[in-house]
Amino acid sequence: MNSPAAQPNRHPLAVQHPDLDDAAIRRLVETFYGRAREDDLIGPIFNRTVDDWDEHIERISDFWSSMLLKTGRYGGAPMRPHLLLGLEGAHFDRWLQLLEATARDLFPEGLAALFIVRARRIADSFEMGLASTRGDIVRPRHSL
Ligand code: HEM
Repeated sequence: MNSPAAQPNRHPLAVQHPDLDDAAIRRLVETFYGRAREDDLIGPIFNRTVDDWDEHIERISDFWSSMLLKTGRYGGAPMRPHLLLGLEGAHFDRWLQLLEATARDLFPEGLAALFIVRARRIADSFEMGLASTRGDIVRPRHSL
């Protein structure tokens, strides 16, 4: 019956939302890292690790584009660099808080939720992956 109009040139497995595109992803990523760099808890981690912010923002935008739009633009191993950063649960909590606040500041709830749900899931999987390399036990955050 009333199925949503197909979005041209969109991968069939891409998340379907009329306002989700690379421009929206870019806006979220730029705004998020602008805030994350200034955050008292996680800012110092970024500022001592990232030399080229344009390149970082480009790479993270490609990552989200691959995740949500299936563009295949990111071909890296996203967990690997995090192994060396000494991340704790509190860092992940702050990262997610900032991501959620940014998504809600920029977008209406439906679009914000697409980023938030996916971010929680990935943060959980990173956190568990990192903890298991240390032999810790972690309590997963519930994604939905
Ligand atoms: C505790 C929270 C986090 C902190 C402090 C953090 C910090 C960083 C830093 C400093 C880098 C740059 C590493 C380098 O250039 O050597 C990086 C890379 C990256 N981060 Fe995170 N991160 C966090 C969580 C996440 C989460 C939850 C995601 C995904 C949703 C994510 C996605 C990525 C990706 C895709 C890269 C690029 C990896 C590559 O080089 O291909 N990060 N992160």
